[in-house]
Amino acid sequence: MIVIGGGVIGLAVAWRLAQRGAGVVVLERDEPGRGASHVAAGMLAPVSEADPREEPLLRLGIASAQAYPGFAAAVQEASGLDPGYLRCGTLIAARDRDEAEALERELEIRTRFGLGVRRLRPTEARRLEPALSPTLRAALEVADDHAVDPRKLTAALLVALRHLGVEVRAGTEVVELALGRRQTRRAVRLRDGRRLEGDAVVVAAGVWSAELPGLPPEARVPLRPVKGQIMRLRDPAGPRLMTRALRLPGAYLVPRGDGRYVLGATVEERGFDTTITAGAMFELLRDAVELVPGIGELVIEEVLAGLRPGTPDNAPVIGAGAVAGLHWATGHYRHGILLAPITAELTAMAVLDGTSSPLGEPFSPGRFEGRAPLRAAVRSGAR
Ligand code: FAD
Ligand code: GLY
Repeated sequence: MIVIGGGVIGLAVAWRLAQRGAGVVVLERDEPGRGASHVAAGMLAPVSEADPREEPLLRLGIASAQAYPGFAAAVQEASGLDPGYLRCGTLIAARDRDEAEALERELEIRTRFGLGVRRLRPTEARRLEPALSPTLRAALEVADDHAVDPRKLTAALLVALRHLGVEVRAGTEVVELALGRRQTRRAVRLRDGRRLEGDAVVVAAGVWSAELPGLPPEARVPLRPVKGQIMRLRDPAGPRLMTRALRLPGAYLVPRGDGRYVLGATVEERGFDTTITAGAMFELLRDAVELVPGIGELVIEEVLAGLRPGTPDNAPVIGAGAVAGLHWATGHYRHGILLAPITAELTAMAVLDGTSSPLGEPFSPGRFEGRAPLRAAVRSGAR
């Protein structure tokens, strides 16, 4: 099997395929884990950024969140490395009446799906997280929304893959898919001119998946890059500021458990632009410092931007494509870290068993094939 792309999705898919006994090679044009997965905050939050009308996506995210403890433990056991799974829980904060009303949406969905959530008075929230400012108006405690460090996770997956004999070829760019209808073996052409053949090809190339040449128009899925700028912070005094992840309408703060935090993120439709702007950094800090003044004391370690792979409905594309032997595992938008375990499982089912499940069927590539590539409008803002 050939997996194109060494981000969290490609690595998780390759690992699941190899666990089930398949011979797999992962082709990555740069270093593995340096795409969107390198930038991601790592929140495992199936409800917070999803459209409440999209029940199938909520169900997929909840299933993946529930699979995470087992997935992380298995990656740790297979690799001997800590994948950075942190049972931190989350507080969702509101600063004014409008934001407090928005909390009701989260409360309603979580209650509808039988998920744990607790309304907190400001004093209760500040008892849990004393770094919160007195300007807090209301909060929800979402005890089961945890986080993972995506960089640790991809590093651990790479070692787990190596232990299973999977070759991950860095610096190996696929420049063409050769999936002619009469061929029985699937092939890809590499930048250096060589061809590589396999029984199936899984496209897990993040937002670049839509650009791969060699597919007939009806077999393509449309993707657009959705830029996210974030800031990585460190507390020289160690892990004392916040123990839970914190979400507010303009930003989120995710602890790594060791005094480091990720402050994110903008959501911008600016094509393949990954520049860092002063305005974005200002807005993230302004919103977060208003609620957690101690953030002002943290050291800025890194500022960076990544490109989320977005489909027209912002839901992933998982499953067999229009050309035999072609499978998609992309379009994970704001949830690729969360959805890695379930995507790996569904992709392995499709590739190895030729089956799908009711959970995965709404995400079939068939819903987009034949549609024109997306041309993103230029918009921006922190969310
Ligand atoms: P990528 O990580 O982008 O990997 C794709 C890989 O394919 C890259 O390494 C690339 O080099 C390679 N590639 C591309 N073209 C080729 C080719 N032709 N040949 C070979 N290799 C190729 N998700 C969450 O669940 N929780 C979060 O908290 C979260 N926070 C985020 C914050 C920000 C700021 C951003 C930008 C994203 C965030 N996400 C989060 C979303 C998540 O990062 C993505 O959904 C996920 O990383 C997508 O993984 P991927 O493997 O599909 O893509
Ligand atoms: N899921 C966090 C983000 O996309 O910014």
